[in-house]
Amino acid sequence: MILSIESSCDDSSIAITQIATKKLLFHQKISQELEHALYGGVVPELASRLHAEALPRILEQCSAYFPHLKAIAVTHEPGLAVTLIEGVIMAKALGLALGLPLIGVNHLKGHIYSLFIEQESRFPLTVLLVSGGHTQLIEVQSLDQMLSVATTMDDSFGESFDKVAKMMQLGYPGGPIIESLARTGDPLRYGFTLPLLHNSTIAFSYSGLKNAVRLAVESSTPQDYPDIAASFQYIATKHLIHKLKRYFSAHPPKTFAIVGGASANLYLRSQIELLLKPYSADLLLAPLQYCSDNAAMIGRMAVDMFEEGRFSCFDTLHVSPRSKL
Ligand code: KG4
Ligand code: ZN
Repeated sequence: MILSIESSCDDSSIAITQIATKKLLFHQKISQELEHALYGGVVPELASRLHAEALPRILEQCSAYFPHLKAIAVTHEPGLAVTLIEGVIMAKALGLALGLPLIGVNHLKGHIYSLFIEQESRFPLTVLLVSGGHTQLIEVQSLDQMLSVATTMDDSFGESFDKVAKMMQLGYPGGPIIESLARTGDPLRYGFTLPLLHNSTIAFSYSGLKNAVRLAVESSTPQDYPDIAASFQYIATKHLIHKLKRYFSAHPPKTFAIVGGASANLYLRSQIELLLKPYSADLLLAPLQYCSDNAAMIGRMAVDMFEEGRFSCFDTLHVSPRSKL
């Protein structure tokens, strides 16, 4: 079994995964959403202190598995430096105390492995990663070969939902709040401009849309918020679809997946399904509870790394907040 730890942002999570069967034997997550909601976004120092309290509490619940462990896995990149360090310190302490090797896991790759929790991994695939920190199109050949083919020039898809919710003072995280508000709104009322419409680059951008929404919020009343939310979500999603369509014209997808916190958005899922129809491509999605940050996806990836003997040394496993795939 492998014990895995995730603390790259505002979720403290630990999982135990059985190596041979990929079965998830234990999974617990404590989210800090309520604490950060007061500030309209994640406050790193507060997040770090909350991890320091939550991780040991979760660890106590799975101590019965300790004698069966073969490795300790931990998210060490990318993320917030002061929160990643909480997980890495715990992993090193556990590794030393129990005499077990460490496996350092990349959080972005971990999100891709959310597709394979309690399943065999399946490659190749084209992945759209939409989270709070990232919006990336990734060609995945294997555990080692993951190539980012498009990324955002500014804000990420999920982050733009957070910022729009903050403008309306609706709390954090903004994704689920804006998605549910949009259900009763008119998506065509505000007619926001599609980002990078006349730019042939396959890339994403949300800062222009965010500013257009800010102007709309400033000249409206709360009764207009459902229409603003629906118009924003409509264009934010249409922008992804527009760029994916362009990419697919040269690289038709066979197996496509959406991962990351914002892949829980049902409107986005429905639009991607429509987009894929002409290609008869398979669509892989993680179960809703594993879209946002969790240790189960980190543990699942660690199983594949374990099987390839990819361990980290105690002195070279560092926190790399800005690293990529
Ligand atoms: O993957 P995740 O848990 O953390 C990061 O690695 O960033 O993603 C969190 C992000 C937040 O920005 C949140 O607002 C967004 O995912 N999100 C959503 C939805 N649920 C979560 N965005 C749009 N629609 C949703 N339903
Ligand atoms: Zn994440």
